[in-house]
Amino acid sequence: MRRRSFVHLALLAAVIAAAVTAVAVLIPWLPVSASRERDRIDVTFWLATGISIMIFSVVAAAILYSVWRFRVHPDDDSDGPPIHGHTGLEIVWTAIPTVLVTAIAIVSAVVLHDNGTTVKNELHVKVTAQQFTWSFQYLDGPAKGVVSPDLYMPIDRSMKLEITSVDVLHSFWVPQFGQKQDAVPGQVNPLKITPTRLGTYPVICTELCGLGHSLMRRQAIVLSPADFAARRWAAGLPGGPTAAGAPPGQPGGGGSGKAVFAANGCAACHTLAAAAAAGKVGPDLDKLPAEAKRAGQPLESFVHESIVNPNAYIEPGFPKGVMPQNFGQTISKSALDALVQYLIQSSKGGGK
Ligand code: CUA
Repeated sequence: MRRRSFVHLALLAAVIAAAVTAVAVLIPWLPVSASRERDRIDVTFWLATGISIMIFSVVAAAILYSVWRFRVHPDDDSDGPPIHGHTGLEIVWTAIPTVLVTAIAIVSAVVLHDNGTTVKNELHVKVTAQQFTWSFQYLDGPAKGVVSPDLYMPIDRSMKLEITSVDVLHSFWVPQFGQKQDAVPGQVNPLKITPTRLGTYPVICTELCGLGHSLMRRQAIVLSPADFAARRWAAGLPGGPTAAGAPPGQPGGGGSGKAVFAANGCAACHTLAAAAAAGKVGPDLDKLPAEAKRAGQPLESFVHESIVNPNAYIEPGFPKGVMPQNFGQTISKSALDALVQYLIQSSKGGGK
């Protein structure tokens, strides 16, 4: 009889485990993995998921079986038999969780170590976060010296991101790469990524950093080694990086105002038809002439001042102190002139 109960219990647990496993495996809960680091992290996820399914199945089976097998009559008000502990059971339910938790800890420690280990021939990229955009500066490899508003990566090559911020706390996240790293002013935080899948993935800021937080997005683009080395993506294509769009602290060259606009992430906050920008955090740049009139200034000096000293005049309806205060230092003079001329031309021509 006891043996039969055990068989019933085991069968019930197996059925529950199969159902829960189907839910875990058949539904794609996580975005596709696109990096070696993410593959390793997934191993820890699956280990913990497997353990959870096992425990859940046994507990759920015991509850269901008890409800079915030991149900009393509604008018049975008698006490159950008194039970004073069971040493053997207590040892078992202490030992098993100890083993499981230790296993998770060991596997996690190995993955953490592997994901942080320096590998030969890795590429170094300085990642700078600011309200509300990213910039990526290649420190070595075939793209050395390139500064890009998007993160281009050669497949199967390890990259070490050196992440920092020029203003407030941000956090770097590409879901398909499986890791997050904080961007902290005055500090450089490392993050290793070895992409394993060609494609375009979102770079997301995952630390609330101000009004434009939800718009602080860029792209990570994984290329073949040949495409990466060819640097076509860095040759000033539309929206592509140029020397003019130098990141904070970098000397910038000349270049077109449109490239400066793109590289400094202006589109994240502002609307400008000529740049296909539709940000709503800051004032509409298609309406610059009207805004200059309200500020009582000639258009050119108004645009220039609004970039380098944004708090001098605040357009009604917009909060003070949201626009970064440091563009006067981070954009070179020639790039700034190009940007001012571009904005003037765009707002007169393309805008309404
Ligand atoms: Cu940067 Cu949120």
